[in-house]
Amino acid sequence: MARDFTSVGVVGLGTMGAGIVEVFARNGVDVVAVEVSADGLERGRAILTGSTDRAVAKGKLAEADRDALLSRVRFEVGLDALHSVDLVIEAVPEHLNLKQRIFAELDRVCKPEAILATNTSSLSVTEISVATTRPNQVIGIHFFNPAPVMKLVEVVRTVVTSTDVVADVEALCKRLGKVDVTISDRAGFIANALLFGYLNHAVGMFESHYATREDIDAAMKLGCGLPMGPLALMDLIGLDTAYEILDTMYRRGGRDRRHAPVPLIKQMVTAGLLGRKSGRGFYTYERPGSPVVVPDERTPVATQAAVGDGTRTIDATGGAGSASSELASPAAVTKIGIVGSGTMATGIIEVFAKAGYEVVSVTRGAEKSARVFEAVKTSLNKGVVRGKLSEADRDAALGRINWSATLEHLADVDLVVEAVVEELSVKKALFASLDEICKPGVVLATTTSSLPVIDVAMATQRPADVVGLHFFNPAPLMPLVEVVETIRTSAETTATARAVCAALGKTGVVCGDRSGFIVNALLFPYLNDAVKMLEASYSTADDIDHAMKLGCGYPMGPFELLDVVGLDVALAIQRELYLELREPGFAPAPLLEHLVTAGYLGRKSGRGFRDHTRR
Ligand SMILES: NC(=O)c1ccc[n+]([C@@H]2O[C@H](COP(=O)([O-])OP(=O)(O)OC[C@H]3O[C@@H](n4cnc5c(N)ncnc54)[C@H](O)[C@@H]3O)[C@@H](O)[C@H]2O)c1
Repeated sequence: MARDFTSVGVVGLGTMGAGIVEVFARNGVDVVAVEVSADGLERGRAILTGSTDRAVAKGKLAEADRDALLSRVRFEVGLDALHSVDLVIEAVPEHLNLKQRIFAELDRVCKPEAILATNTSSLSVTEISVATTRPNQVIGIHFFNPAPVMKLVEVVRTVVTSTDVVADVEALCKRLGKVDVTISDRAGFIANALLFGYLNHAVGMFESHYATREDIDAAMKLGCGLPMGPLALMDLIGLDTAYEILDTMYRRGGRDRRHAPVPLIKQMVTAGLLGRKSGRGFYTYERPGSPVVVPDERTPVATQAAVGDGTRTIDATGGAGSASSELASPAAVTKIGIVGSGTMATGIIEVFAKAGYEVVSVTRGAEKSARVFEAVKTSLNKGVVRGKLSEADRDAALGRINWSATLEHLADVDLVVEAVVEELSVKKALFASLDEICKPGVVLATTTSSLPVIDVAMATQRPADVVGLHFFNPAPLMPLVEVVETIRTSAETTATARAVCAALGKTGVVCGDRSGFIVNALLFPYLNDAVKMLEASYSTADDIDHAMKLGCGYPMGPFELLDVVGLDVALAIQRELYLELREPGFAPAPLLEHLVTAGYLGRKSGRGFRDHTRR
C-alpha cells in the first residue's frame, strides 16, 4: 500500500516553492511553508495569495475553496518547523552547497521515515542525498513552472533511492493530478536538457542583434506553436536560476558549449534584471512579480505604411526589424509576381490574392498553371464550405490572379516572390533574369528556407532590393513570415517586406541571413538533441514527448514533430546548421542518420520514430 502523505513541508517560497505549496494545499494536503526570513515568508505568502486570488477571479477556484486551501498552509521561518511532516520538498536557489547544507539539517530535524525531496533542475540529486544519513529516502521531484498549471513532474531516482520511495512518490504525483516520468539522475533530466540549449541559443541571437526580442519570441510562438517565446520564458524562469542551471549543465553535461551561459545572462543577473520576479529582465513588467509586460525603450514603435489599397498601421508587435528599417518608409505595393508552381508558390498565390493584391503567377507552362489554379480554387472552396469566405470573395480572389508562363509579364509588378526549387543555380539564374525584366526599385524576394539569400542577391545588379520572405507551410494558415535581411538589403526593402507581411495579416519577423534563420536554427538542434537522448537510452520516445508537452506546453513532442516534418528534412536542415556554424553540438545524431538511411522518414513513409498507417 502506498504511503499516505498527510502533511508536507516546502522549503523556499520563491518562483517554484510558492507554486508547489499551492499544488499540495489545493489537493487537501497540509503544508508547512518555510523560508529563511520573515521577509521571504511575506513574499512567498504574497505569491500564493496572488495566484489563488487570480484563480478565483478567473472562476477556476471557488472562494470557499481558496479559503480552505490557504487554511491548510502554515508559514514558518526556519527548518525546525518540519519535525513532523511526511515529506519535504526543497526549492531554494540552485546552489549545491546551499542544498547540501539544508539536506543535512533536514536529516537532523525530520522524523526518520520522512522522505526528503529536491526540486533541483540540474544539480545531482545523488550529491545532495549524500549530505544526509538516509540517501535511500532522498529523491528528485521536479515540478514545472508555473507549478499549479504544468501537468508534468519528473521523478528522479538515484542509484540508492529505494524502490518503495519511488513508488510512493509516483502515487503521490497521481493524487496531485500530475503526470510523472521517472528517470535517473542526469544533468537537466529530460525537459531541461532539451530546453536550456535552445534558450541559451535564443539569448545569443538577441545578444548579437541577430533579431529583436519581440521577433525571436514571435517566431517561436507563431512558427512552432509554443506557449511563449524563449526570452519571455527566461523571464518567467528567472535569469539567476537560468544562469545556475546552464552553468551546472555545462559542468555536469560534458561541457557542451551550448550550455555555457551567454555572457549577457550573467550581466543581467549582476544588474538585478532577474525577469518577472524583479520586474525587469528581457522585458519590463508592471511591477515585480507581475506577468504584465509594459512598454520600455526597446518596444518597437508603430509605423504608418502605404500597403495595397490603403494606408494602415503596422502593429508594433507584429514584427519589429532593425531600428533603421523601422524608420524607413515602405514602398507602395499593389501588384505581386509569384514564380513557381509547387506547394509554397500555390499557398503564397492564394495568400496574396485573398488579401486583395493583383497577382501575376509565372509557372513553366500552361499545364502547371492549370494545376496551380485548381489547387488554389480547391483551397478557397474549403474556406467557402467552412463559412470563412463568401463565394463572391472567392471569385474575386481568383479573378485577381493572372496566369503566365513568361517572366516578361513581371515587368510592371512591385514585388516578386520567388518560390521555385531549392537549388542555388536555378534561383541565381532566375534572379539574374528578374534583374533584367523588372522595373527599378521593385522588391525581389526569395522564399528559400536554407540557401544564403546573399548568394541570390548577388546574382542581380540590385542586391539592396533583395530580401528573404520565408513563409511557413501551409502558407494560408501559418501566421509567420521570416523577413531575411542580407548585409546588402536596404532599410526600405526590409520596411516594404514587413509592411506587406502586415497587410497579409501575418507577423513578419526580421532576422539576419544565417542558416536556419530564427525558427529552424532554434528548433532543429532541440529535435536533434531529443534523438541523441533517445539514442543514449536515457528515456523513451513516449516519455520525452510527454515531458515536452506537459512540462513545457509544447503542442507536440519532439518525436511526434519529427515524424510529421520528415526525418530526411530534419537531417538535411541539421546538416546545414552544422556545416555553417561548425558547432560540435549540432552534429546530426547518428540514430537520425541511420533511420533516414533505412528509409524510416516519418509519416510519409509509414514509419519513423513510430509506425504510421499509410494514407
Ligand atoms: N524557476 C523555474 O522555472 C524552476 C523550475 C523548476 C525547478 N526550479 C528549481 O527550483 C529551485 C528554486 O528555484 P526558484 O526559481 O523558485 O528560485 P527563487 O530564487 O525564485 O526562490 C528561492 C527561494 O528560496 C529562499 N531561500 C533561500 N535560502 C533559503 C533557506 N536556507 N531556507 C529557506 N528558504 C531559502 C529564498 O528566499 C527564495 O524565496 C531551484 O533548485 C531551481 O532550479 C526552478
